Amino acid sequence: MKKTAEKQPKMDLGRFWERIWKLLEPSQKQIKRLLVLIMAMEVVRLVGPYMLKLVIDRITSFDPSQLSNILLLVGAMFLINQGISFLDYLADNRIFDVLVDIIAYLSNNAHKKMVFLSLGYHEAENTGGKVIKVTRGVDKIETLFSNFSFEVAPTVFQIIFTTITLFVVNWHFGVIILIFVPAFILLTLRVNKLVYPFRKNRFDEQEVAASLMTQSIININTVKSFVAELREHIQFSRATGNVKSSILKEYRKIIQYNVARNLVIDLGRAFVLIFGVYLVIQGQITIGSIVFVYTISEKALLSLFRISRLYDRIMESSEAVERLYVLSKEESDIKNNPKGLKPKKIEGKIEFKDISFCYKDSANCALEKVNFSIDSGCVTALVGPSGGGKTTVVRMIYRHYDPSAGQVLLDGKDLREYDLYAFRHFMAIVPQEVEIFDTSINENIAYAKPGASREEIMAAARTANAEEFILQLKDGYATTVGERGIKLSGGQRQRIGIARAILANPRILIFDEATSSLDSYSERLIQDAMDKISKNRTVIVIAHRLSTIKKADKIIVLEKGRVVEEGNHTELSRLSGGLYQKLINLQKVGDVE
Ligand SMILES: Nc1ncnc2c1ncn2[C@@H]1O[C@H](COP(=O)(O)OP(=O)(O)O)[C@@H](O)[C@H]1O
Ligand SMILES: [Mg+2]
Repeated sequence: MKKTAEKQPKMDLGRFWERIWKLLEPSQKQIKRLLVLIMAMEVVRLVGPYMLKLVIDRITSFDPSQLSNILLLVGAMFLINQGISFLDYLADNRIFDVLVDIIAYLSNNAHKKMVFLSLGYHEAENTGGKVIKVTRGVDKIETLFSNFSFEVAPTVFQIIFTTITLFVVNWHFGVIILIFVPAFILLTLRVNKLVYPFRKNRFDEQEVAASLMTQSIININTVKSFVAELREHIQFSRATGNVKSSILKEYRKIIQYNVARNLVIDLGRAFVLIFGVYLVIQGQITIGSIVFVYTISEKALLSLFRISRLYDRIMESSEAVERLYVLSKEESDIKNNPKGLKPKKIEGKIEFKDISFCYKDSANCALEKVNFSIDSGCVTALVGPSGGGKTTVVRMIYRHYDPSAGQVLLDGKDLREYDLYAFRHFMAIVPQEVEIFDTSINENIAYAKPGASREEIMAAARTANAEEFILQLKDGYATTVGERGIKLSGGQRQRIGIARAILANPRILIFDEATSSLDSYSERLIQDAMDKISKNRTVIVIAHRLSTIKKADKIIVLEKGRVVEEGNHTELSRLSGGLYQKLINLQKVGDVE
């Protein structure tokens, strides 16, 4: 939260528009064409008042022979209005075409970016923040674009063409506009500068409020069990109270300046009129001309006022745009080799050669000079105290992170030589917390193999010892399981995870503490499933239970990021004073960790 507040630039309009322009790259051509259309429209819009001038001039020096002429002019005015209305129709269509395009590709690009970014990115950012970044960014750009096309661009052209026209009619009018429009703009910039601290404060407070809201909802179970509803609520209303007072300060200032801005506009009007009357009396311009000048300058000044209010809202979007832009420029830490190896088959032998790895922003390295090999077709157990680096080893094997030093070899070749997505296809993992999508059991299992047949899914569920509980659910395999699998118990989620891994039919199968948080009944079911599917694969098991580890062909003991012991159960349990022996003795007296 704090980081973004610091990153927010001082209002920098140039950079702001540049970033939006870059985000809108796919529409740049369309937008340019749209601008030409809007420009043409604003030119045509000046023709109407001009015809009115001609009509008035004919009336003021009325001559009956002119009657048909006047009627002709009225008819032409009508046609011009129809023309404008047609151009309006074209422009509106264009604007909406571009708008729906923008919404679609901004969301698509952001989603693509998100799912392809490495785990390193996702672990560093909070989920609520990531979702808000995308939705709010897209939303703000959408509003911004419609404001721009419907209001800002037409007004800017209108003011430019009006000024030119006024110069043509009589240069004094042009000068008047050239004094009052900039005065007005200066006042607008000034008030925005004055309210900027309040506005920034408001953004910060709004973020605090939003995060309090998310936190209380995400952790609602804890809130309720500790009877903290009221405390949470009071905290939240304090934050909204702060937002309120910032908004009030901001708007008081803006409203105060509106008085001044109104004065500028009124003075502009008065000058145009006084000077116009003077010129008419002098006989330099006709009554029609003064009506014309007054009409178009009035229109321009009023739209100026209208868009100055928009300025406020545009500046509000700057932070959201900035974040979406930063996301679009985000690069994955893991570079995929474009010409990487795409093997049809792998053996499944893994070697760690002098691997060191440190997580960003952490003082100690998670792995230090780690060497070991995991043989193809064997079961290898990783054991050791929590925080020892076991999960990090798995992340290295998946290449979620690249090592700071050393090499991970798969079948004798550095992982970085492979196509990332090709080799990951040969792996499957059952983590401690199996992630469940809010869809049916069927779809959750088939996630590993989208085209899987019903029979395949059921066979996998049976092998995973999951069928028993699935059939007891209301709709069996079609039951939807709720967000994050909330309707399933830990052991049930775990078995879904195993069924998923079975369907993937991986060459390398990894269990990362798959049974650690389970009751002994579920554990037995899962243990049994693990045994069934471990044949003829390279299996890596991270576990604490002796029963699981004992059967492994090789056991690697990791402590503080180093391999401290390596061997099979018989060998390691003989090492007196060794860590493995200690871990086992602890279990014998019933302590699990
Ligand atoms: N995403 C992360 N960012 C920073 N540090 C991490 C991250 N994941 C793990 N660590 C740290 O790395 C060390 C090893 O963690 P881990 O591999 O998860 O241990 P284990 O799985 O053996 O319990 C721990 O000190 C842990 O705090
Ligand atoms: Mg772990």
